[in-house]
Parts: sequence; structure tokens; C-alpha cells
Amino acid sequence: MQLQKAIQNRRAVNFFDPEKDVPENLLKQVVETASLTPSSFNLQPWNLIEIRAQAEKSKIRELAWDQPKVSEAPIILVILADRSAWQEKHPVFEKNFHELTQAGYMNQEQRQWLLGACENLYGKNEESRQAFACKNAGFFAMSLMLTAKDFGLDTHPMDGFDHEAVKQYLNIPEEYWIPLLLAVGYFREDKELLPPKWRKSYEEIKVSFK
Ligand SMILES: Cc1cc2nc3c(=O)[nH]c(=O)nc-3n(C[C@H](O)[C@H](O)[C@H](O)COP(=O)(O)O)c2cc1C
Repeated sequence: MQLQKAIQNRRAVNFFDPEKDVPENLLKQVVETASLTPSSFNLQPWNLIEIRAQAEKSKIRELAWDQPKVSEAPIILVILADRSAWQEKHPVFEKNFHELTQAGYMNQEQRQWLLGACENLYGKNEESRQAFACKNAGFFAMSLMLTAKDFGLDTHPMDGFDHEAVKQYLNIPEEYWIPLLLAVGYFREDKELLPPKWRKSYEEIKVSFK
């Protein structure tokens, strides 16, 4: 499917076929394709928890406004935004610096510069840490949705859940924020997909403040 088609055809589908499973290797391809998403300094501050067990999905459904799709979709991905991925000694920061030096993008002398730049951009306060994590993980989530569509899958992003309760239930460490839950599966063909929703036009999107 061409990108334009994937964008046009992606919908937040409310009904998933509970009989149609998503093979692990298909999900792996989707995730690895989406991992090509750009991120600031290539720090990739995203992870995900894959939930397939019915009992776990039912529990998450309870914590997510009782939205039926949470237990009907074969997979719920808990998207995680890592607020600490820019810090020295974080495994991703360290791997990233190693890879950047190996590839000739940076040299050892630039390590302090990179640490300082990260601290300055992302470490000033809670808001900047949160923004760093969520904007990058949000891009990743969007790539996941479009890639899934390209591979013939349907998705539904969800904000409607009790953040702290889900965090607690899944024992998620403090440095993570959950930008969204993502249901993944196949649209249930005997249900009707509602018409596409309106979108802002170019003129409505474009603004100027001076
Ligand atoms: C971050 C995010 C959170 C959302 N949370 C929910 C949700 O909790 N429940 C729901 O039914 N839809 C949720 N949606 C779906 C939106 O309502 C939907 O994407 C939007 O209305 C446009 O429809 P479309 O995706 O079919 O084009 C969410 C979408 C996004 C991007």
C-alpha cells in the first residue's frame, strides 16, 4: 500500500474481530518498521508492552473506561515514553553515543557537548522531560498506526484510561509516561465503520500570530 493510501485508509476502528489473531512475526515487522521513526538525537525514547492474555486485557479494559475494544482486539500495546532516555548512563543514551562515534557522526571529545545539549534541552524541568518523551513516542505511535495499516492491520489509539492505575497494574517504572494505549487487530467485517471524520483544511491549519 502506498503511504498516501495507508494514511487515507487508517481509521480508529471500534470493532475488532476477536477470532482473527495477529501473528507475533507480523507484529515484529510492524514494530521494527515503525522503529525507523526519527527522534531527537536519535534517542528513541519509546518502548511498548504487548498484552495478549485475555485476563490482562479485561483488567486493562476496566481501567480504560470499559472500552470493549480493549478486550476484543487481539493485542493491546501500551506505548511508553521514556523521560530519562537522554541521561548519561541510560542504556539508550550510551548505545546511541557508541553507535554515533562508531559511524563517524561524533567523536569522544563531543560527549560532554552532547550531554550538555541533552541536559539543556530536556533536563531543565519536569515539563521538558515530559515533552521530550511524549513528542518522540507520539511520532513512534503514529508510525506504528500507519505501518500497521500498510501491513493490513487496524488500530485504535486510546487516551481514555486511568494512567496511574495502568502504570501500577503493569508495574511500570516511574520514568515512563503512557501517551496512549493502542489496540491492534483486524476490523470486524460484520460491523459498520462510521464515515470518516472531518479534518481541518489547509487554511484552518495555517495560522500567523503577527
Ligand atoms: C492520542 C489519541 C487518543 C485517543 N483516545 C481515544 C479513546 O480513548 N477512545 C476512543 O474511542 N477514541 C480515541 N481516539 C480516537 C479518536 O477519537 C479518533 O482518532 C479521531 O476521532 C479521528 O478518527 P479516525 O482515527 O477514525 O480518523 C484517540 C485518538 C488519539 C490520537
